[in-house]
Amino acid sequence: MWDSLWVDVGLATLAGPDPYGRIEDGAIAVKDGRIAWVGAREDLPGPADSMAAIVHELEGGWITPALIDCHTHIVHGGQRAGEFEKRLMGVSYADIARAGGGILSTVTATRAATEAQLLDSAVRRLRPLLAEGVTVVEIKSGYGLDLDAELKMLRVARALQERLPIEVTTTFLGAHAVPPEWARNADGYMDFVCDEVLPAAVEQGLVDQVDAFCETIAFSPAQVGRLFDAAALFQLPVKIHAEQLSDLGGAAMASEFGALSADHLEYLGTDGIEAMAESGTVAVLLPGAFYMLHETRKPPVARLRQAGVPIAIATDSNPGSSPVTSLLTTMNMACVLFGLTPAEALAGVTRNAAKALGRLADRGTLEVGKVADFVHWSIDEPAELAYRIGFNPCQTVIRNGVPTLLG
Ligand code: NIG
Ligand code: FE
Repeated sequence: MWDSLWVDVGLATLAGPDPYGRIEDGAIAVKDGRIAWVGAREDLPGPADSMAAIVHELEGGWITPALIDCHTHIVHGGQRAGEFEKRLMGVSYADIARAGGGILSTVTATRAATEAQLLDSAVRRLRPLLAEGVTVVEIKSGYGLDLDAELKMLRVARALQERLPIEVTTTFLGAHAVPPEWARNADGYMDFVCDEVLPAAVEQGLVDQVDAFCETIAFSPAQVGRLFDAAALFQLPVKIHAEQLSDLGGAAMASEFGALSADHLEYLGTDGIEAMAESGTVAVLLPGAFYMLHETRKPPVARLRQAGVPIAIATDSNPGSSPVTSLLTTMNMACVLFGLTPAEALAGVTRNAAKALGRLADRGTLEVGKVADFVHWSIDEPAELAYRIGFNPCQTVIRNGVPTLLG
């Protein structure tokens, strides 16, 4: 006997032969918070009523795996609308960063904020994501850039799980920028990050993976490599912000460390693509940042596809380059701006987002044995998810097999 069974609904399992893994007249069952059965209704082993304690007759719509936002900086102090105004007047993102604005202005605001303030503002930004069926979110540090403030950000990220029905996976991004105390001494700062900040954060159980910003305005591949060596000592998986504004070969370098993902990638070259294909590193595309910074160079989607590199997409929710808190809108941007198909966009926020977090064994598709996190949408076909802007067809979010109240 199953705990619950959902019938009279289409299933986009993301696990089938076609891009959506479609089952038109499907049934999905849950036992003890895991998916116990999934298939066509006509193949159910018995009459629906006799199979489960609770049977949900949905009268149409589609169920997909719950969404995963695999790249966010959603915990931060302040906002940067003034910088947005400057960019509209023609000042570039890199020039603002070099003048001490950009990431560093959010560092000042984040250091000044209390833990309670950081928590409250992050809750407000997370709510719209939850309402769109997100049940797992990755949250990075990287606006503290000193011991106390990095730990503070990571504690807040973890604490969000007590405030909202969401699972948070934390990423240590102490190497996001060189803070003012270490100006012109990026190597010294990187030593400090590797020797003191990362070990303390790991010691307190605050780190699930390690990331770095590899760029001319941040850290070189050699410097990031030192951080990845330190991460390896703690057996932590790594990710990288790479090839966003120029091609420094960051994605290829990270692939050598078996990186879970390389993110942004507008300037990714052939070597990087081949290295990522070889290591199974996911390409996480961030169309919100591309859009907000009015970039023109697109990530090499066709060549990533051809090479078989899995593509994920994420909001990159942050106060500078991507003040975005809608994963559905991000799916639309990925299609319109980067040329993904709606099925690729959906895979990008489910199956491949799970892979980008090393969680594919447990999440990202509707398959027996996986965590029963899925969403019922009021849509006629799965492509509708990427199609509209500013309309949320989420009907019910099922988390660990139980319909959730979104709090
Ligand atoms: O992913 N690229 C680096 N980091 C963030 C932006 C951070 C910021 O501008 O505050 C990103 O786009
Ligand atoms: Fe980012």
